[in-house]
Amino acid sequence: MCGIVGYVGHRQALDVVLGGLRRLEYRGYDSAGVAVLDGAGALRVRRKAGRLANLEAQLDADGRQSFAGTAGMGHTRWATHGPPVDRNSHPHQDASRAVAVVHNGIIENFAELRAEIEADGIELASDTDTETAAHLIANAYATGETAGDLEASVRAVCRRLEGAFTLVVTHADVPDKVIAARRSSPLVVGVGEGEHFVASDVAAFIEHTRDAVELGQDQVVVITREGYEVTDFMGEPAQGKPFTVDWDLSAAEKGGHDYFMLKEIEEQPDALANTLRGHFHNGRITLDEQRLADQDLRDIDKVFVVACGSAYHSGLVAKYAIEHWCRLPVEVELASEFRYRDPVLDRDTLVVAVSQSGETMDTLEAVRHAREQKARVLAVCNTNGAQIPRESDAVLYTHAGPEIGVASTKAFLAQIAANYLVGLALAQARGTKYPDEVAREFADLASTPAAVRKTLATTEQVRALGRDIADSKAVLFLGRHVGYPVALEGALKLKELAYMHAEGFAAGELKHGPIALIEQDLPVVVVMPSPKGRAVLHSKLVSNISEIQARGARTIVIAEEGDDAVRPYADSLIEIPATSTLLQPLVATVPLQVLAAEIARSRGYDIDKPRNLAKSVTVE
Ligand code: F6R
Repeated sequence: MCGIVGYVGHRQALDVVLGGLRRLEYRGYDSAGVAVLDGAGALRVRRKAGRLANLEAQLDADGRQSFAGTAGMGHTRWATHGPPVDRNSHPHQDASRAVAVVHNGIIENFAELRAEIEADGIELASDTDTETAAHLIANAYATGETAGDLEASVRAVCRRLEGAFTLVVTHADVPDKVIAARRSSPLVVGVGEGEHFVASDVAAFIEHTRDAVELGQDQVVVITREGYEVTDFMGEPAQGKPFTVDWDLSAAEKGGHDYFMLKEIEEQPDALANTLRGHFHNGRITLDEQRLADQDLRDIDKVFVVACGSAYHSGLVAKYAIEHWCRLPVEVELASEFRYRDPVLDRDTLVVAVSQSGETMDTLEAVRHAREQKARVLAVCNTNGAQIPRESDAVLYTHAGPEIGVASTKAFLAQIAANYLVGLALAQARGTKYPDEVAREFADLASTPAAVRKTLATTEQVRALGRDIADSKAVLFLGRHVGYPVALEGALKLKELAYMHAEGFAAGELKHGPIALIEQDLPVVVVMPSPKGRAVLHSKLVSNISEIQARGARTIVIAEEGDDAVRPYADSLIEIPATSTLLQPLVATVPLQVLAAEIARSRGYDIDKPRNLAKSVTVE
């Protein structure tokens, strides 16, 4: 997600801020910007799409001396609302250009706020949700109860914002302060001598100070050269949580983990919550960009999901939900196969193209083929403004944030959640679910970040197991129903990270061939359905496990808490929180990711950069 840094002190703010942004580059971004207060009432802002080097070239062209000043802030943007172009880059300003704001997160009620600002005759200069905050803060500072009080103005506006945000605010009239606020997005304060920092994470200021303060939920901090002061959104004094950073820079970038992938596994609850946020409003599911009429959605009579790799597995999961909720046939197809087999498509076909990067050539060509055949295309994508969403009729963004580890983890879970939102949007449009049923399904989905968090708290046992089986020749994965794509994903993670032979099977297929592979001590991972949700499937899978155990396999069973029936057949039992059947993949995948990562580490491999693989596959 976006990177933020703010500074007040005795150094040149531009140097500190650019240094901090460089340290935050690892977060991924598509544009960057800075604001510097010169201490004499001038606020200078520069922002540029693309790499930091573009911004620096612009600053050189302008003359860096015109950005002299000891207070300022900077931002690297990972686009959410609006494509990555100069006008959407941060900082954003109000009409008088007195206020500058940078933001990480999503302001959910930005459409209402935008309408309110436009009703006052102000024309917004960008497509972003952030710009609304700049106008509202400028207005609060100019008039009414909070006039002339920047802290109070920021607090008043924060109370009106819905969603998740870290905001950093500067005002030309207040040259010695930088103000920051947070709700559900990260923000830390760096405490130096005669200088203070705010940042999305400590990596931004670790070269200057290791004394930091973590802000709590709904808190505002004012930093000056001399100190910092924390209040809540009502202005009551509040406490942050002080800590000392004992990581080196590379660990700091990884949030204290050895690998980005491990950090990204931990970020999955946020990836899910951010993907769902804002998509159920006034009792209705909404997409991000919809260039399709409601009638078009009602007319859909067939769905194809096209994708590659893990994204394809997310589509396999979605098939169960969309068919169940919408009573529509769903075919899930590898993008690389789709266009070469002349699929039957017409204007009533919806092709859902799922891609983290939005640049995968196979998926892009599948989208192009679908559109040539007049099908409607909906992109599920993690990268705003990428080619696949640009060429689609509708878009739903997964807000997993940048995924740096080559193997997909948080993007995969976010894709499942987004695909489910597509299913609910279709069910709503087609009337195959009543509004209260859609609301219930969404509420169920909204409970999954907590369930994933609970799963993550219990992964030590999985790591120990991973070390134990790291020398195995191969590992098999079995599942039924939605557990089948989870088994495929578990096998893919293990292949790509640990370079081991790994296969996922539908457990019912076992007797039709794969059972011949079972030999003494071969690890077989089994994803059990809930005994309550799908009792028939559960008992069938218990029989499958007993068959493989009888042939000497070492059974590793992932089962819902309290599933006592499976215990006797599990050589190792990994318990996951109970969820409804369709949501189980969101929790059951987590131990498989951890298992693959731990096996790979035990075998001495770099799990962020598996051999032969690229993060974005832009050739066919
Ligand atoms: C596996 C993995 C890949 C991607 C696939 C599609 O861990 O990351 O299989 O899922 O290359 O990439 P996107 O989603 O960018 O189209």
